[in-house]
Amino acid sequence: MDQLLVTLSILLVLLAVYRLFKATRNPFEAHGLPYKSSVPLLGSTWEWILGRKCLATVVQEIYNMAPDAKYVGLYNRMTPVLMIRDQRLIKSIAITNFDHFRNHRNFGDQQVDPIFGSNLLALRDNRWKEVRSSFTPVFSSSKMRSMFRLMSETAVNVARYLSTLPANENVVEMKDIFTRYANDVFATCAFGIAIDSLADRNNRFYKLGREVLDIHSVGILKLAVLWLLPGLAKKFGITLLSDKTTGFFKNLVSENIRTREEKGIVRPDFIQLMTESKKSRDMSVDDITAQAFSFFFGGFETTSGLLCFAVHEVAANQEIQRRLHAEIDAALADCQHDEITLERLDSLEYLDAVINETLRMYPVIPFTDRECSIPFELPATLPGAEPYVMERGSHLWFPIYAIQRDPRYFEKPDCFEPDRFLDKGSNLANNGAYLPFGIGPRNCIGKRFTLIEAKVALFHILARCRLQVCSKTTVPMELKTRGVFLTAKNGFWLRVDPRAA
Ligand code: HEM
Repeated sequence: MDQLLVTLSILLVLLAVYRLFKATRNPFEAHGLPYKSSVPLLGSTWEWILGRKCLATVVQEIYNMAPDAKYVGLYNRMTPVLMIRDQRLIKSIAITNFDHFRNHRNFGDQQVDPIFGSNLLALRDNRWKEVRSSFTPVFSSSKMRSMFRLMSETAVNVARYLSTLPANENVVEMKDIFTRYANDVFATCAFGIAIDSLADRNNRFYKLGREVLDIHSVGILKLAVLWLLPGLAKKFGITLLSDKTTGFFKNLVSENIRTREEKGIVRPDFIQLMTESKKSRDMSVDDITAQAFSFFFGGFETTSGLLCFAVHEVAANQEIQRRLHAEIDAALADCQHDEITLERLDSLEYLDAVINETLRMYPVIPFTDRECSIPFELPATLPGAEPYVMERGSHLWFPIYAIQRDPRYFEKPDCFEPDRFLDKGSNLANNGAYLPFGIGPRNCIGKRFTLIEAKVALFHILARCRLQVCSKTTVPMELKTRGVFLTAKNGFWLRVDPRAA
């Protein structure tokens, strides 16, 4: 294995050097575009790669380089990329001209890694379209209503756990809590398995889930081989997920489908809905496993991250917490046995504004990308410049974090102010600069699911608990410099007290 790793590392370095020579002609300079210079092999985001700055900050600095430009250039490692700064141009690319920009950059080939390569995020062109339309009904409003009860039960369990912590154990790292919550919601909503990861801390589902998401040294090398040398990956049978993890998920899916078919069990969960799709379309167990995995991959860190940033801000701003408590208490007065309905939850405007503001200040995925499939002419980036033709196979980024922190679009962008979303006239959530879930037909398929999951958790936790910063909390928030997803440098530590009855 060691020898294989050394060989692969050498091959990757050689490939990178080859690309360096190939890329000597600077497309930005040739065209007079503003661009961020790059460090050989590491590209323009080298400060992030070396762990000096958070990725979102590095992208924001590049975004701020040319305040009047519609787009600027940068290098993602060796690959030239255009960062689109103009919100109208983003809409035009992602929605009006979607046919030119249907895919993300290639990262995972179905032939090479059938599970990872078939996840929705990695799928391309017609196959993406087929699979996306098969799974869209899984997230419809009526299906979400059925799943709501499962989420709500899991949320109540977390809230009870937090509100009954002994006084000497009530300083809690909330990322751990919400990662377990997201895990348990996924287990019950996807597979119909009831797990209590707060009580059974080392359950197999949770442990394998962590393994999938903890991509460390060998995983990163594997990912690089899968992206850069798919032929080699195929030859050596290199896949991102270990056989153990893939086998576990595949067995779970096929056993689940078989038992339900044999016993006529019907549950309001993903497997049920996917099995219905399987009957009507050409879906294999591998396809279903891949999508179950993509919901896991796409939804786990993101939802737990959203909840962590939300409780951090709520604890750091006691007036915001007081208003949330008041809104939740009023809703509770209308509910039977503390059981909120989805309709009532949806009517909580301040809770909605707090979630929106959290996703504005802390979009967990700080940017997204598109690959150009059909050549496309961009308008000139600055007055007096020439239009720029994007070639087939070239890449662009939508800098979500940087746009959402731009004072042109959001006043006092570094202040946490949920009220900005309450002003109906401003319609901020739809102004084209609010992009936490991406944009256009390729946007986040799990948006509604995650919003309900987050709201119901906050509702039940705040119904029972009071959250406060403590000596272990970092205020103001400091972002972690490693990793792609936005998260806190020092964890999300809070003191949790039960509310007086
Ligand atoms: C706070 C939570 C979440 C955030 C901030 C988030 C954000 C995003 C973003 C930015 C994209 C790329 C969109 C684009 O390029 O236009 C995306 C895609 C995606 N997300 Fe989410 N997401 C969240 C939760 C979830 C959940 C819970 C699921 C699954 C249940 C999920 C599944 C996916 C999938 C499968 C895609 C790929 C869609 C496609 O390519 O057609 N996400 N998400």
